[in-house]
Amino acid sequence: MTAITEFVSYQAEGSVGVVTINNPPVNALSVGVRVGIKGGIEAANADASVTSVVIVCAGRTFIAGADIKEFGKPPQSPSLHEVIGAIETSSKPVVAAIHGTALGGGLETALGCHYRVADKGAKVGLPEVKLGILPGAGGTQRLPRVVGVPMALQMITSGTPIGAKKALEVGLIDEIAGDDLKASAMAFAQKVVDENRPLVKISDRDDKLQEARDNPAMFDEFRKSIARKTRNFEAPENCIKAVQASVDLPFPEGIKRERELFMELMTGEQSISQRYFFFAERQAAKIPDVPKNTPLIDINSAGIIGAGTMGGGIAMNFLQAGIPVKMVETSQEGLDKGIEIIRTNYAATVSKGRMSQDAMDKCMSILSGTINLEDIKDVDIVIEAIFENMEVKKEIFGKLDKICKPGAILATNTSTLDIDEIGEATSRPESVIGLHFFSPANVMKLLEEVRTKKTSKTVMASCMALAKRIGKIPAMVGVCEGFVGNRILHRRSEQSTNLIMEGALPQDVDRVLFDFGLPMGPFAMSDLAGNDVGWRIRQGKGTTSPIADAICELGRFGQKTGSGYYLYKDGSRTPTPDPIVEDIVLKASKDAGIERREISDDEILKRCIYPMINEGAKILEEGIASRPSDIDVIWVYGYGWPIYRGGPMRYADSIGLENVYNTLLEYQEKFGDEFKPAPLLERLVKEGKTFAEA
Ligand code: 3HC
Repeated sequence: MTAITEFVSYQAEGSVGVVTINNPPVNALSVGVRVGIKGGIEAANADASVTSVVIVCAGRTFIAGADIKEFGKPPQSPSLHEVIGAIETSSKPVVAAIHGTALGGGLETALGCHYRVADKGAKVGLPEVKLGILPGAGGTQRLPRVVGVPMALQMITSGTPIGAKKALEVGLIDEIAGDDLKASAMAFAQKVVDENRPLVKISDRDDKLQEARDNPAMFDEFRKSIARKTRNFEAPENCIKAVQASVDLPFPEGIKRERELFMELMTGEQSISQRYFFFAERQAAKIPDVPKNTPLIDINSAGIIGAGTMGGGIAMNFLQAGIPVKMVETSQEGLDKGIEIIRTNYAATVSKGRMSQDAMDKCMSILSGTINLEDIKDVDIVIEAIFENMEVKKEIFGKLDKICKPGAILATNTSTLDIDEIGEATSRPESVIGLHFFSPANVMKLLEEVRTKKTSKTVMASCMALAKRIGKIPAMVGVCEGFVGNRILHRRSEQSTNLIMEGALPQDVDRVLFDFGLPMGPFAMSDLAGNDVGWRIRQGKGTTSPIADAICELGRFGQKTGSGYYLYKDGSRTPTPDPIVEDIVLKASKDAGIERREISDDEILKRCIYPMINEGAKILEEGIASRPSDIDVIWVYGYGWPIYRGGPMRYADSIGLENVYNTLLEYQEKFGDEFKPAPLLERLVKEGKTFAEA
């Protein structure tokens, strides 16, 4: 075997030249890999003993794309274009042997090969759009030439990969391998030689483009079909334009157009934020003071206390990951109802074709219930998901302490209560942790994990690993009121209420935040969640909020009652502004002696967002979150902060901390100390640093 570079080797095996890439963990196309592949192809072409070439990868996957860490740095030769060019123009047939995931530049490399053989479990796709860019090494020009324009548009703008079976059906791969991928690919390569098959250059193909040439309107139709999903994102539009170029221009010109559109995105703020977020998300899964090799608790069974909406949603995550769940309720009736809701939810998913009946049956077969807490004595993890009442929770944890086996993880789904105090209700506070799921718990990706002063490293590491297993994105935070997500949310809620007292209307605040990129504004969100929730909390605490209280006093609890801050006509989920609400708002201002004024969109945005950033800075100072990027992960996955703005902390960095700081000072003078800049923010501004550099 000849090492071409540190990451790529070449070996003649019989009459097949095998180029092996080994760049763990995902064989990204860093410069050493690019040099190596090109060198490997050249070596094979120069090697008289071989008649064909196979490109194969070591480790867990075929090439998963360009090396994202190289983006934004000066380019190094050879470019991926040159590498793919060398493959495509090889005088000996080149076959890609694909296992794991061939993504982005990985699939583009495979599309430069004359043929592709894939493992049956392999997936192929062009996910660049998720990084705010487009496939920049010919993917937008070659993919439509293979699978046709409609499917290429779908794959490139969604970034979603397809499995080997589908890839074979649409001609993206030529064969599904037997048990030994490399042997299958080598046999395939030999067959190409024996049968004198052509060296297929996808760049020369034209047949699949005809459909779009005959129907150019398909591009606009496609644009419309994805408009809602891709609102405010820049990359999908450039992806469409690039695919259109494959139809309108000869291949070399199409490649140039692809390059222009790629560079436009690459240097834009959206892609910078989305690439930042790619690493933020992966970093959030690592806890700075918990070593990588911390022993893990094996989690093979779960007990969930409370079969309400939250408990049921949490259970579904475990069931889908194949982890048996025992639900605990206080009455048989409540238990039956909870289990029935899970069944109905699954049945709805099956009827929409998003789950097989078989998968549903498997989930239901590992779900059981009990009204006797003792029955969960053997489970590996317990998650308590009952109503927010400290005394009741402490009582439950006291009982769990006596019942559960040693080493079991005792988790609470509380979103408001002091978990240190809950931990102290047991003799094993090191086993206690917060696992804060977001509603609907089977859908929302975020899992805010809350460590107490005593939670053990093993428990933390195990819960991080568990999150991945059940398909969640975790971020570890410390105990404080509202933890990270809701604590920041509260700052925004306060300001949105103040803004409507001072002169704005709910629809103004909601429109500004929606246009900023959030899925909905605070008032529409309150209508969705139920205005009565906050009302009852205020009643319990003996506090008031004039507008919100007046709305609830009219029974306007939100979507569920057909009205709240908005009207929802005939069961519609579309909010319509309502003059009654405007009257309530005007009256509340008047009663408070506030002279209403015109409030600009710019002020609405800054008043809502900057206090959130300021709160994030306080959270960092207090050590409640370990990194600014963890806060961003929480806000993107838990609250729908637009990923192309990276998260509140990344957004602050992108607009300049000094701007945030100066505006906060100005607001502090006008409106009071709630806007006082956090000391960390002040320090960073003085040092000329960003949160990322803090
Ligand atoms: N570049 C650099 N590092 C990468 C990478 C890439 N393309 N893909 C993954 N990594 C790193 C991750 O950051 C992580 O590092 P860490 O261990 O230090 O945190 C490590 O590889 C493992 O990644 P995951 O934790 O994500 O591993 P999984 O097994 O869960 O997932 C995967 C594997 C499906 C390949 C996933 O990593 C992934 O989706 N990667 C990105 C794929 C992608 O976006 N490709 C397109 C790149 S852009 C491109 O190709 C441009 C071209 O058109 C010119």
